[in-house]
Amino acid sequence: MPETALLLDADPQFLADVLSGLRGPRRAIPARWFYDERGSELFDEITRLPEYYPTRTETSLLENCRDEFAAHISQGSAVIEFGAGSATKTPLLLEAINPAIYVPIDISGDYLRSSASTLQSRFPDLNILPVEADFTQPMALPENIEAMDLVGFFPGSTIGNFVPRSGVDLLRHMRGILGEGAKLVIGFDRIKSEDILIPAYDDAAGVTAAFNLNLLHRINRELDGDIPVDAFLHEIRWNDQEARIEMHLRCGRDVRFMVAGFEYSMCQGDAIHTENSHKYDLRSLRMLLRSGCWTSIAEYSDPQNWFTVVLAEATPIQTAP
Ligand code: AVJ
Repeated sequence: MPETALLLDADPQFLADVLSGLRGPRRAIPARWFYDERGSELFDEITRLPEYYPTRTETSLLENCRDEFAAHISQGSAVIEFGAGSATKTPLLLEAINPAIYVPIDISGDYLRSSASTLQSRFPDLNILPVEADFTQPMALPENIEAMDLVGFFPGSTIGNFVPRSGVDLLRHMRGILGEGAKLVIGFDRIKSEDILIPAYDDAAGVTAAFNLNLLHRINRELDGDIPVDAFLHEIRWNDQEARIEMHLRCGRDVRFMVAGFEYSMCQGDAIHTENSHKYDLRSLRMLLRSGCWTSIAEYSDPQNWFTVVLAEATPIQTAP
């Protein structure tokens, strides 16, 4: 019974999200499921595309605010990175603030271990304590670090993948984990012209299209699906009302397919919503942070105001007014 064996191997949360997400009329699958091995490789490729400005813009901001970080954050702290992935920006923060402990949190254990060992060789004195977990879920930090100065790190504008109410939940969750007196270094992508935004998510080489379509291949691979991937088109939209880029997979013809033994049908023109990437202006990002119990204390933006790295502080708990 190879099919049963296959589904026993499947991530039950992925299965549940896909089975309910493919049911119409508003089909949607959470963006976190993009990141299997192939998806993570494609995302790394995206970060190097000429059209995809966020990674290089944020990287140069992190390079340029080393002294400011060093001035605001005490040496010997503990850095907690939420969704560390390949952790390419981490060395910039580590060099700036020279922490004693680094706690990368990621759902992918393989990615976590390989990036931890790369970092260890670059920072031999740093105590690295990886945690394999979903950072949106309740979790315990490694013992004895609660007493230290804690610094959360959430780069990449990953906060943009959350609708505001989930983003606020997440920020409050981080505030709960890190506690009173903690700091947070967080990247926000800024609202800008569609002429810049759209190509960043619909590049000429088709890498973002492959990244989006890989979700369907992943469903076929992991959930015993037979989705005809060639029937789907990568679609990018700027939703001005919600100030976000949306990624969809639009169906070019009527299709029927199976996933995990369930039959689905889609008509030409139907679409699956696969990602939101919210963009912010300074006031809206400050408001989002404040709603999540963080106060912006310093903001670093590039000259074009395409991206902003914020240093925030846990808002002290106040009962009045
Ligand atoms: C995960 C937030 C960094 O929304 O820009 C890139 C993911 N999706 N191209 C983003 C993504 C399509 C990305 N982040």
